Order: sequence, then structure tokens, then C-alpha cells
Amino acid sequence: MAPAAPILLFDSGVGGLTVLAELRKVLPQAPVIYAADTAGLPYGAKSEAEIAARVAGLLGVLSERYRPRLAVIACNTASTIALGMVREVLQIPIVGTVPAIKPAAALTQTGTVGLLGTAATIRQRYVDQLEAEFAVGKHVVRFPAPGLVEAAEAKMRGDPVDPAIIHDAVQGLLAQPWGDQIDTVVLACTHFPLLADELARAFPRPVTFVDGAEGIARRTASLLAGQPFARSKPDLAVFTAEPDSRASFARMLSTYGLERIERL
Ligand code: DGL
Repeated sequence: MAPAAPILLFDSGVGGLTVLAELRKVLPQAPVIYAADTAGLPYGAKSEAEIAARVAGLLGVLSERYRPRLAVIACNTASTIALGMVREVLQIPIVGTVPAIKPAAALTQTGTVGLLGTAATIRQRYVDQLEAEFAVGKHVVRFPAPGLVEAAEAKMRGDPVDPAIIHDAVQGLLAQPWGDQIDTVVLACTHFPLLADELARAFPRPVTFVDGAEGIARRTASLLAGQPFARSKPDLAVFTAEPDSRASFARMLSTYGLERIERL
């Protein structure tokens, strides 16, 4: 494997940066290309067919262009819908993002877990299967929180986060049967950990947030164990829509080690 061959991280927007942050901890030398389908954001409001077509098509193009050694679909919505299809099409290892129901079910003391995701993610049969397999005898209270995707995008652009969006997401969980028992919350969208502080303040009592980022980073490192890494140029962020041209946006990306920005 060429030491400069990158790892490709894919999301609809800035959410995958939460996965990149964990990946940097375990593979600090790995060259990375961060690709965001910002022209297709938000995925959560799209149909399964549309998401599958966009994700499979774009990963094909990205993989052709950048020749990654492995791709991480750092998006729950894209993974729960298109992972199988992408694996069939690409010849490289693909790591997907799975709603962290298993660790959350193991952690809860009250037996009640909240799950925040996009509308497209929380209606997936795959999520029903995770619940049936790993949360037997527990309550999993789901709520679609599409507003949190835009709120996370705003925060990362340096714009204010509307507190009503955070409040509505938390109330959407609490107001359901068993909602008052929730002590553990699965952040089943990679955008949501970017709002963990805001969400924590909106809960009436402490809750533990669980997401998949650390597990994805560990899985990626184990699949690439023994491979050489060397960065031949600064890491790249690539967007399908015109990227925000403000210096603050470039600065935010550079805190994740992404020093070049391009439009696909
Ligand atoms: N970051 C994506 C996820 O993990 C979804 C954001 C969107 O709706 O585009 O589900």
C-alpha cells in the first residue's frame, strides 16, 4: 500500500468531522480526504432511493479520483441505507456508521434509552433489528431531529444555534411514553455530537450521550493495521456545493487538520 494513499471520510456535511476527530487520535499520520455532499444536505429528509443513488454514485466518483485505501461512511443515514450497495460497488474496505444502540443499552441504568437521528435513519428496519438484538427488555424512545443537522452546520460555520431547535429535540424524547426515564441518549447522526453541550443543558437531569465515532475509528485502525502512512500534501476537504468562503470556515476545518478546500 502506498504510504500516501488516503482514507476517505464521507458525510452529507460537517457531521463526519466528529468521526475524523476520533480517527486522528488513533491514526495521526494517516492522509485523509474529507468529502461532504453539501449539495445533497440534508440526507435525513430524502427518500431511501435518492440517498442510495447519491451515496453510491458519489463514492464511486470520489474513489476513482482519489484512490483511497479505505472509505468511512461517516453518516448514519447514508450507512443504514446504502452501505450494502456501496460495498458491492467499491473494491476497497468500507466502514459504516451504526446507531450506537448496543453500547447505550449496556450503559442504561433505568432501562430506557433515547435515540435522536434523522427521519430517514430512525425509520430504517436496520434500527428495528439493532433494537431487537441489543436492547431486549429495554425501552428505546426514538425521535427524528432534523433541525439539529442545520443547527450543527450553523455552529460549525460560527453562526448562532437556535435554542428552540435544541429544546424541541429534547422535548420530543421526554414527551413520549417512558421519556421521563431516559438516562442514556444515542446520538444516531454524526452531526449531533457537535451539539452535545447544548443538548446536555436542555435535559432536566444528567444523561449520558453515546455515539459511534470512537468505534468507527478503532475499526478503521484495525482494518489498516500494519500499513504505512505518510502525508505527501496537506489533507483535503472536498464539497459538492460551493464551500463557505469565509476565513472562519477554513480555520474551523484546519482545526481538524484539513488545510485545503475544493469543490468536487
Ligand atoms: N450526518 C448525517 C447522519 O449521520 C445526516 C445529516 C443529514 O441529514 O444530511 O445521519
